[in-house]
Amino acid sequence: MAQHPLIEAFQHAGQGHVFAFFDQLDAAAQQRLLAEAAEVDLGEFARLSRTLLTPAAGGGSGVTGLTPAPYEPRPENGGDPAAWAAARVAGEEALRAGRVAVFTVAGGQGTRLGFDGPKGTFPVTPVKEKTLFQVFAEKIAAAGRRFGRPLHWFIMTSHANHAATEAFFAGHDYFGLGAGHVHLFRQGRMPAAGHDGKILLAAKDALALAPDGHGGSLRALDRSGSLDLMAQAGADTISYFQVDNPLVRCVDAEFIGWHLLCGAEMSAKATPKTGPGEKVGHFCLQDGRLTVVEYTDLPVALQRETEPDGQLRYRAGSIGIHVFDREFVRRMACGGDGAAMPFHRADKKVPCLDAAGRLVKPAAPNGVKFELFVFDALPSARRAVVIETRRADDFSPVKNATGEDSPATCRADQLRQWVRWLRAAGAEVPADATGLPPFALEVSPLFGYDEDTFAASWRRLAVRPPVTAGLYLA
Ligand code: UD1
Repeated sequence: MAQHPLIEAFQHAGQGHVFAFFDQLDAAAQQRLLAEAAEVDLGEFARLSRTLLTPAAGGGSGVTGLTPAPYEPRPENGGDPAAWAAARVAGEEALRAGRVAVFTVAGGQGTRLGFDGPKGTFPVTPVKEKTLFQVFAEKIAAAGRRFGRPLHWFIMTSHANHAATEAFFAGHDYFGLGAGHVHLFRQGRMPAAGHDGKILLAAKDALALAPDGHGGSLRALDRSGSLDLMAQAGADTISYFQVDNPLVRCVDAEFIGWHLLCGAEMSAKATPKTGPGEKVGHFCLQDGRLTVVEYTDLPVALQRETEPDGQLRYRAGSIGIHVFDREFVRRMACGGDGAAMPFHRADKKVPCLDAAGRLVKPAAPNGVKFELFVFDALPSARRAVVIETRRADDFSPVKNATGEDSPATCRADQLRQWVRWLRAAGAEVPADATGLPPFALEVSPLFGYDEDTFAASWRRLAVRPPVTAGLYLA
C-alpha cells in the first residue's frame, strides 16, 4: 500500500514510531496527526538532536570570552542629555509618521502565577482591577492619540490560549482600539523528544508539542503575515515587550529614537541589577558581539564581580524590552545571511505514550523541550544599542503568586509611580519612606501614561481633586 509522503519522511528521519498507532485511528484523527506532523521541520529537528541531546550539550556551555556590554547611561547617571533629547525628538517624529508598531509576546502559560487563563487577562491595577491587556491597550490608545497616528498592536498567543485571548478582546470590543488595529496570531510549536532523540507522542493522534519560546515570535511574525501587514501600514519599527509587565513604557519615544539614530537593527533596555542574585539575563559582549547571558548560565563569580566603586561589573540586566527593525525580523525569520538563533534545551517531565500506547506520567524528567529566546537575535544584528532605563518607570513584572515579582509588589510599584507623578505635578500626597501611599489610587493611561502626559492632563484639570483613597484619574 502506498505510504503517505509525510509518513515516509518521518520513517527516513528515524521518527517512524510517530505513526505506530496510525492504523488504529479514524480518518479525522489520522488527519489531526498528519497536520501536527506537517508542522515539524525534520531537518531542524535532526540538527537539534545532534547538537542538544548529546551528553555534553546544554547548561552553561559556551559562555567564555565575556566582558560586560556597554550601554547608554541615563542623563542622571552620566549620560549625555543632548543625546537623550535628540533621541526623544527622533522617536516622536517616527511615531507621528506612523512608523511604529507595537508587539506583545503573550504565549506563556503563567504557571508560576497559578492563574488559569491567558496571563494578559490577569487583573493588576489597584482600584479598577484592570487586566494587563487593558493597561497596554490604554497606553497604546493614548500614544496613538498623542501622535495623531493610531498604532497597530500585534499579540503573539499560544495554541493553548489563542481562542480565550481572542474571545477576551472581542468581548471587550478591543478596548476601543478597533478590531482592525489588534492582530492576534499563534506562536509556533516544537515537538518534545525523549533523551534518545525520538519525538514523543501525547496521544495516538497527537505529538507532544510545546511552544517554541518567545524567540519563536520572530518566525511567527513572518509566517502570520504580520510583517507584510506592518509594511502595508508603513510601520518599519517594532516596539516589543512581555505580557507580564504593566509598568512597561510600551511606546517609548526615547527608546525608539535611540534605536533609529544608532541605525540599529535590534535594541534593548537594561536596568541595573538589584543585586548579584537577581534572576535576569545579563548584557555581555562575547568575542565583541552583543549577547544576553541568562542568570543560570553566567558563572556566579562573574555575577558577583564589582568595579572599584562597588557597582556590579555585570549590572546591566535584561528586562525583555526591545525595538526591532522590521526587515531584520524578516531576515531572522528566514535564517538568511547567516542569521541564526540557537535553540535551548529544557529537561521536563513530559506525559507521553509508551511503546504499547499507554499514557505515562513520569515522576522525573524524561524528555527535552526546545525553546528559542528572543534576545539571541542580538548577535545577528549589524548594529545594536542598549540603553539604560529606570526600573521604577519600566519594570515590575507579575511572575509569582507571592513574594518577589508578584501581584502585591507590582501593585505597590504602580502606586509609587503615580505618587511620583502627582508630586512632580505639585500635588500633596501622603506616602511612606518607600513612596507608597496609605491608600489605593489609580491613574488611567488615557489620563497619563508617563510623567509628561500625566502632568499635561493634570494642568488641564479645571478642578484638581484632593488625593484621597480610591481616587481614579481618567
Ligand atoms: C525572562 C527572560 C529574562 C528576563 C526576564 C524579565 C528568558 C529565558 N528570560 O524570564 O532574561 O530578565 O524575562 O522579565 O526569557 N513567552 C511566549 N512564548 C513562550 C515562552 C514565553 O510568548 O513560548 C512570553 C511570555 O508570555 C512572557 C515572556 O515571553 O510574556 C517571558 O517569558 P517567561 O518564561 O515568563 O520569562 P522569564 O523566565 O520570567
